[in-house]
Amino acid sequence: MDMVPPKSSDRSYRAYGVHPVRDALDEQGDNLQKTSVSQEDRNETPNATTKNSTALATVSQLQELLELATGLLLPYAFQPLTAIETYLPGLASMWPFNISSSFNPSKDIHDLSGKVILVTGGNNGLGKETILQLAKHNPHKIFMASRTESKARDAIASIKSQTSQNVDIEFLQLDLASLPSIKKAADQVAAHTDRLDILILNAGIMAVPSAKTAAGQEIQLGTNHVGHFLLTKLLLPTLDNTAKKYNPDVRIISLSSAAWQMAPNIDTIVSTNKLIAQKPWTCYGASKAANIMFAAELARRYPQFTSASLHPGLIKTDLYTPNLEVNPIVRYGSLLMGGLMFQTIEAGALNQLWLAAGARKDEIKNGQFYTPVAKVHSNKWATNTKDGKRLWEWTEQELKNAGY
Ligand SMILES: NC(=O)c1ccc[n+]([C@@H]2O[C@H](COP(=O)([O-])OP(=O)(O)OC[C@H]3O[C@@H](n4cnc5c(N)ncnc54)[C@H](OP(=O)(O)O)[C@@H]3O)[C@@H](O)[C@H]2O)c1
Repeated sequence: MDMVPPKSSDRSYRAYGVHPVRDALDEQGDNLQKTSVSQEDRNETPNATTKNSTALATVSQLQELLELATGLLLPYAFQPLTAIETYLPGLASMWPFNISSSFNPSKDIHDLSGKVILVTGGNNGLGKETILQLAKHNPHKIFMASRTESKARDAIASIKSQTSQNVDIEFLQLDLASLPSIKKAADQVAAHTDRLDILILNAGIMAVPSAKTAAGQEIQLGTNHVGHFLLTKLLLPTLDNTAKKYNPDVRIISLSSAAWQMAPNIDTIVSTNKLIAQKPWTCYGASKAANIMFAAELARRYPQFTSASLHPGLIKTDLYTPNLEVNPIVRYGSLLMGGLMFQTIEAGALNQLWLAAGARKDEIKNGQFYTPVAKVHSNKWATNTKDGKRLWEWTEQELKNAGY
């Protein structure tokens, strides 16, 4: 099978700066790209082969959607109410017996005077909304850690225009797929502050095509987990100094997802060769299970901090763009069902805002996984100490191999 170069319109390659590593893309992407290239480059009307490819692509896309739906919904076959609470918290909140939190960040987050905050992926979506809400409560400083500087500058201007406080928001260049970039960002933090009260590990990519980071990990696990692991590790001295010198209530909040349900077993998660052979959604599930394991293991190893992971709900953000672009079935499905399925970005940020600054320290169960809003859920990846230790040790070894 020939390798077809990615189309310039494919945001997954362009924006993520990744390199395909398998000698063939998964069937779906391959068929789609072959179809596009043959039509554009030869300026011909589609021939029979192209039509076949399109049909095959459609079948494969349908299959992908079915796998996604069953992967996410089947585990809740006997708990339909939990499924609705997890995926449609907006609908669940309308029930008469609703017990969902009435958390309101404007009035339920107390004064953050003196506190220093860092949010990864702060230039967009849930991260940007999180910074906006925290900025309204007078923190000393917020680091907006972001990959795309222009988006960060726009986001900072937009947040400042919506807050009355003259809050100090510093742009921090961070590419989680690049270990040198993470080291540089951590050095910048250490040079500018000896205090960090709230670290929100929010940035993420979802279901992008198969690739590896420069350090050799599968791209989604590498970005969503390994990158955040190194950032946290490098910030530990500042976090520890904060707990000892300024404020015993230091929090590290990890954005996971209900997609942890789609993760493969731990043997596959910690084997790059096995993981990279999986489909993009499985790799995303692996990275989100890793976020849960990381938060739990961090709480076991560093009990002086409060560490938790969470699912934010289903929120229509740019996270879905790569998938919407390549899979028309997902695109049309979301157009038809989006209004019912997706919540607003404001609602989507509530769970992380509650964990980071709304809840009292003694209200949070250290190391646990939360669904929207403020609901602790027992999770096998959080409670399995053996797997948590294995992932931690594997990640440390990967970083050591890369010189970190
Ligand atoms: N939206 C949902 O329904 C949903 C559901 C479950 C979980 N989540 C989780 O929520 C988190 C936030 O996602 P979102 O929905 O707000 O998506 P989003 O709007 O696409 O934001 C993702 C953020 O991550 C940043 N990012 C991506 N790759 C990066 C890299 N290599 N280095 C540094 N930053 C990078 C992006 O920066 P650039 O814009 O500069 O690329 C962007 O700021 C993710 O961890 C996601 O897994 C979301």
